[in-house]
Amino acid sequence: MDCSQALANKLRTFMLSKSQITDLAECFRKSMLGQLDGSGSSLKMLPSFLDQPTGEERGRYIAVDFGGSKIRLLNVHLKGHREYEITKEQTFLLKDPGNKYNFTTESTTGSELFAFIVSQIADFIDDSSIYPLGHTFSFPTLQRSANDAILIKWTKEIKTSGMEGLNVTDVFKAALLARNYHQVIPKVIINDTTGTLLTAAYRDSNADIGSICGTGHNTCYCESNCAAYTKSQIINIESGNFNELPYTEYDNLLDMNSNTPGEQRLEKMVGGKYIGELFRIIVESFMKGKLLFNASQLDTFSKPYFISSQQVSIILEDFSPDLNGIKNWLTSMDIDSLLEDRLAIRLISSRTAMRAAQLVAATYIGILTHIDSGFLNQHIIAVDGSVYEHLTLFADTLRATLNCVLGNRARLVALKLTKDGSGIGAVIGAAMNT
Ligand code: GLC
Repeated sequence: MDCSQALANKLRTFMLSKSQITDLAECFRKSMLGQLDGSGSSLKMLPSFLDQPTGEERGRYIAVDFGGSKIRLLNVHLKGHREYEITKEQTFLLKDPGNKYNFTTESTTGSELFAFIVSQIADFIDDSSIYPLGHTFSFPTLQRSANDAILIKWTKEIKTSGMEGLNVTDVFKAALLARNYHQVIPKVIINDTTGTLLTAAYRDSNADIGSICGTGHNTCYCESNCAAYTKSQIINIESGNFNELPYTEYDNLLDMNSNTPGEQRLEKMVGGKYIGELFRIIVESFMKGKLLFNASQLDTFSKPYFISSQQVSIILEDFSPDLNGIKNWLTSMDIDSLLEDRLAIRLISSRTAMRAAQLVAATYIGILTHIDSGFLNQHIIAVDGSVYEHLTLFADTLRATLNCVLGNRARLVALKLTKDGSGIGAVIGAAMNT
C-alpha cells in the first residue's frame, strides 16, 4: 500500500455516512430526553426562564457580553416592530497583551474580575439615567430565575478562582455597588446561545434554535412540551459536553492532553479552539508513521496549539495547481514538501472541517426531531461564531448534511448567520425581564 492510500484509509473514519449521522442525531435526541426526565446524560439542559420575544420589546439598555477573555460592551436601542440599533460598542481584554494584568487565571478572584469589568462601563453611562443591563455569560450556569445564575464550571480559557458555585449576578451587583453605579441595574443573565436565539427570534418568530459555532460550541432551543417545566422556555443544552461520539485515536490524544480530559468532547471535535490542534495532531502522527514529509522535521509539528483554525481555512483556500500557498507555509517552517504531501495536508484539513460540520448537523437534527417530530413547522437555526462564519467548508457541509439526512423536510429548516446576537440578545432578555 502506498503512502497516500494508507493516509486516505486512516482518514476514512473522519467521513460520517448518512446512517451514522442519523444514528448520532437519535442518540443526541435521547440524551436530551434523558436529562430532561431526570435519568441523566452528558447534556446539561439548563433552563433560561425566558421564552421567545414578541419583537415589540422596547427601550435603551447596556449589554455586557462575557464569553471568553474578550468582553464586549454595547448600548442597544430596542425600537419595537422587530427593529434594534447598536448605538455604541467597545471591546476590551481580560488579559493584557503586554502582561500588565490577567483576570483569567487562578491567581485572580471573581470579585477582582468583575471589578475590572465594571471599571470599563464608565463610558457607557452617565449619572442622569437608569441603565437596565443584560449580561451574556457564556459558561454553564444553573439558573433559578432569568436574573440569577450559579456558575457550574468555567469552560474555555477562564480559570479565575472562587467563582464556581457562586451566583454570578450577586458578584456583578456587588462590583457595581462598590463603584457606586446605583443607576446600572442587572435585569437578566443569559448564555450566548440564548442571546443568539433571542436576537433572531426578535426579527422572526420562526427562530427556535440558537447555536454558537466559534471558539466554543453549544446550542439552545425553545422547549414547549416538557413535563418538568410549566411554561415553555429556552433550554441551554450545553451540547459541547456531548460524549457519545465516534472518536478517532486523534480525538482521544487531543482530549487526553487537554486541561479537561473527558469533558466537552463534542466541543473538542468542532470548536475553533481545537480544529487547528486536531489537524496538528494528525499531521504529527502521520509524520511519525513516515506517511508525510521527512521524519527528521518532526519537531516542527510537535508544539501543541500552534496551528489555528484560520490556518486550516487558509490551507483549504489554496486552489493553485501545485498548492503553492501550502508549499510556502511549509517552507516558512523549513519543511520541504512534495505535491503529494501538500495534497495530504489539504485532505486532513478538509476532513477535519467537514466532520465538524457533520457532527454539528447531527445535533441539530436531534433537536429538530425532538421539537417537531412530524416536521410540520418552519424552523430557523440562528448561528453565530467564527467557525460557522469563516471556516472554509463548514457552513456548506452543515447545510448539505441537513439536506442529505432530512431530504424533503430540509426545506423547512433555515440556517441564519446571526452576528453579534449574543450581546443584542442580552438586551432583549433584559427588556423581557423588566
Ligand atoms: C462553551 C460554554 C457554553 C457556551 C459555548 C460557546 O461550550 O460552556 O456555555 O455557550 O462555549 O461560547
